[in-house]
Amino acid sequence: MADSKSFERTLVTSALPYANGHIHLGHIAGAYLPADVYVRFKRLRGERVLYVGGSDEHGVPITLTALKEGIDPQEVVDRYHTANADSFARLGISYDIYGRTSWPLHVDTTQTFFKTLDAGGYIHQESMELWYSEQSERFLPDRYVKGVCPKCGYEDANADECENCGAQYTPRDLVSPRAAIPGDSSTPVLRDSRHWFLDLPKFTDRLRTWLESHPEWRANVRGIAKGWIDDLKSRCITRDTDWGVPIPVDDPGAAGKRIYVWFDAPIGYVTNTRQWGIDAGKGEDAWLPWWKDAGTRLIHFIGKDNVPFHAVIFPAMLMGQGDYILADNVPGNEYLNIFNRQTGKSEKGSKSRGNMISVRWALDQFPADVWRYYLCANAPESKDADFDWDDFMHRYNGELCDVVGNFIHRSLTMTVKNFDGAVPPQGPLDADDEALLAAIPAQVDAIAESIEEFRFRQACERFIDLGRKANVYFDTKQPWVTRKTDMERTGTTLHLCCQVVHALCRTMAPFLPEGAAKLADILNIALPQGGPDGGEDGWNAAKVSLPAGHALNAPAVLFPKIDPDRIAELAELHQQGGAN
Ligand code: MF3
Ligand code: ZN
Repeated sequence: MADSKSFERTLVTSALPYANGHIHLGHIAGAYLPADVYVRFKRLRGERVLYVGGSDEHGVPITLTALKEGIDPQEVVDRYHTANADSFARLGISYDIYGRTSWPLHVDTTQTFFKTLDAGGYIHQESMELWYSEQSERFLPDRYVKGVCPKCGYEDANADECENCGAQYTPRDLVSPRAAIPGDSSTPVLRDSRHWFLDLPKFTDRLRTWLESHPEWRANVRGIAKGWIDDLKSRCITRDTDWGVPIPVDDPGAAGKRIYVWFDAPIGYVTNTRQWGIDAGKGEDAWLPWWKDAGTRLIHFIGKDNVPFHAVIFPAMLMGQGDYILADNVPGNEYLNIFNRQTGKSEKGSKSRGNMISVRWALDQFPADVWRYYLCANAPESKDADFDWDDFMHRYNGELCDVVGNFIHRSLTMTVKNFDGAVPPQGPLDADDEALLAAIPAQVDAIAESIEEFRFRQACERFIDLGRKANVYFDTKQPWVTRKTDMERTGTTLHLCCQVVHALCRTMAPFLPEGAAKLADILNIALPQGGPDGGEDGWNAAKVSLPAGHALNAPAVLFPKIDPDRIAELAELHQQGGAN
């Protein structure tokens, strides 16, 4: 298993969401929040880490939206790129760059990938039968044609795959095809079209060896990847469309065709790293060590549906370049479903059901930390999880507010009031004191271990656990009683409580950045920012005591409770489809 200390730097990516709709909580729980917690943790540790994301701006869903609205695809992606970048920023998803696959630089990166694969003998051409609309005088790629699934009879199946049963087939097998573009539902005809294919089978052995060298990956990810590697076929990497990266070949057959979105999208990680280096004033070559130095640890955070692309196809594309590193881990999450209170059942989040909760809407209701807490504590890591309004309220109120928030607040108010706004001196220690003092570093290390192993739910539990232990201590020591008779004892108790508050402040920082920043102000400490160049270790500093006499600022409530009536209203609104 790879130990983070043997790496010089960590490059973290989150799947590039399509710039074709507003980002929602299901996305966040899958590929974004876990990545952000991981990156914030690494930054606080002082490790060199770079976090790259951006919009996926090509593909048929985007051109379909443009056709429906009668606008240019560029307008569609401009709208959603801006909106999603804003949603991520408000939620505290701390990208070092949020790039775009419509950038001119991306044409260069993608074409270089294509040309290198072509020169290496990994790309060939094949003629294939595709549906063509005589009415629109164009081929109908992907979702531009609909029909009945040859396997299950689903009526809205795509040209070569069925969203309902997952079947893949050749276009000819689609039953009762019809064009599915605005103003054209004519019956298409089959026509030959020449396309470019990536020879995935040539990578089988290398992919298998690589996958087998990573027994530490999550079982679900390994299983999906293994299934693909055992049965690799050449994949078509071009489409009949004018929206995408031009195919870099000198061939009249490439007219009216572009590189397929799933080929160019993951290359966006590379493009965006290049752009980051340029924007940061580090020069055109600053991206190279992040992608080509064996001392870099590459981690792709994704949702389950993206596993084949990140654990098989993109790695093959990287292998074909010759000098790129491969992912060290691909933490793929399961799905966050929506619990429907009326039916008492959990259902998939879907646009057509209107049950999605968009990030922009969510953040108009509650601050970022509230969502971050619930989505991390209830993360769909090893199995699907449900979003449920009551559970959301109970976990936030009962764990973050009642356990951690309450401990911090009562410790700090008593300290500031009774000891002149400063950390009191520590007197002789008894067994309870020793046990609490020992729990701090143990718990800090345990949380770190969970994060390193991508177990974010467990990390959250361990964080709350520290608060629980501290509350038990506070109740046992009863400083509100001892202060009437024994100020030295009270001082010792609160001295220790301040140390726990200090550890809570640093350990909450990756999960709850707003709360941590407020608490750091109250504690009068600085949390190092860290970044791609590394920095000091502000995580293990949680094990170093705040000295007696250290001045504190006035306490304030960090995590205000959520009112049940408000939850009832929001749940109702959500049920009506109003959480978009
Ligand atoms: N846009 C894709 C999705 O939302 C994800 C692309 S990830 C990338 O499923 F690596 F290909 F960019
Ligand atoms: Zn089907």
